[in-house]
Amino acid sequence: MTLASSGRPPPWVAGTIKPNCLASRPQQALWYGPLVGYFVAMLREYPVIARFKTAIRRRDLSRPVKCALADGLLTQQVSFFDYGCGHGEDIELLGSQGISGGGWDPVFRPNQLVSGADVVNLGYVLNVIEDPAERGATLRRAWEIARRLLIVSALVRVPGRGNAYTEFGDGVLSSRGTFQKFFDQAELKEYLETELETEAIPAMVGVYYVFKDETNRQQFLSNRVRRGPAVLRQRVSEQRFEEHREVLHPFMDTLALLGRLPDPEEFPQCPEIISRLGSLKRAFALVRRVTGEDTWDAIRRRRTEDLVVFLALARFRKRPKLSGYPGTMQRDFRAFFGTYAKACKQADTLLFRAGDAAAIDEACQRSPVGEAVAERALHSPKRLRSSRTSPAHLRRLRSEFPWRSRGRQHH
Ligand SMILES: C[S@@+](CC[C@H](N)C(=O)[O-])C[C@H]1O[C@@H](n2cnc3c(N)ncnc32)[C@H](O)[C@@H]1O
Repeated sequence: MTLASSGRPPPWVAGTIKPNCLASRPQQALWYGPLVGYFVAMLREYPVIARFKTAIRRRDLSRPVKCALADGLLTQQVSFFDYGCGHGEDIELLGSQGISGGGWDPVFRPNQLVSGADVVNLGYVLNVIEDPAERGATLRRAWEIARRLLIVSALVRVPGRGNAYTEFGDGVLSSRGTFQKFFDQAELKEYLETELETEAIPAMVGVYYVFKDETNRQQFLSNRVRRGPAVLRQRVSEQRFEEHREVLHPFMDTLALLGRLPDPEEFPQCPEIISRLGSLKRAFALVRRVTGEDTWDAIRRRRTEDLVVFLALARFRKRPKLSGYPGTMQRDFRAFFGTYAKACKQADTLLFRAGDAAAIDEACQRSPVGEAVAERALHSPKRLRSSRTSPAHLRRLRSEFPWRSRGRQHH
């Protein structure tokens, strides 16, 4: 039996066991002999879910906490508790705004007391729990300690997210060994309302407010209407998005693939989108408003970088004329650079920088990875693989030397 087929791991595999904890003591592993063999076999059968890896280091408040602040639900007059707080940045950042509170996390703050508070945040916790029974119990526990309001957030399905993963239980496993259950907006609302037997009010995509009593809920709803256009516009956008979701979802898949608006050749449902939402541009603006700008900006940036590298390499052969490329690529050049000539110019700049020793030295000096040897920086494989090599560092390196780092980061 595999874990995926049962859908429920035994409790000892869930949570915080680090995958290499046995490997770090080879002698003892030998000594334990058959027992270790048994565990290794079990670990193959039941993958270890590395929940601790899901907590990111935040420099800014999380979206749900920002949203509650903007909605006037988090003020200096209320107490706050962050249940499943990860590294606890929300607590610290709120503290610096005069909103004091505490938090608990089974991995990062296991010894903190779980205490009741006016406002409790359960931020992106439900989606990392692979066991549905534990997921429900966690939600109910957070609800229990909330005196006035529970803010619940979970990852919502967005194109590109969850595609390259292995199916597992009712979610997916990533290559890092983390579990993610991506919710649909409506699915999350239904889940919360079934578990907590009360209405969940959408705050923004993937974020819901659940009020403890009816008066507070009504008060919030009437304030929201009075508070005016910005919030209402967001609500209208979400409703509009929901109305057209069956065409918007394939549209989003295509946008994620191309990083730009598609041509009717690339997306046959263009006429339907236009007839429903006015234009492709408007439809994309709606998608960006509802699902967040960052994902789309990142996709566009990645596509642009890839094309610059492609054109830089093409210079070593003979770069064809624009008409020598397939239609999709011609559209890419226009959409990302304005013209083919401008795209080639960017690629040439990149190539010339590759021969510019000063630029390379400067980037190496700024690089947080590698070792400085005389006046050079050597990117040692060991350092590159170390946990201190954050995705942000690698991204920065990649943006300086995209042609070196792509696929060959350890050289
Ligand atoms: C994606 S992180 C979110 C952390 C934080 N709320 C934030 O938004 O930055 C998920 C967190 O849920 C915690 N977690 C996992 N299982 C939990 C459980 N049963 N109860 C409470 N928290 C849990 C993990 O330790 C992890 O820190």
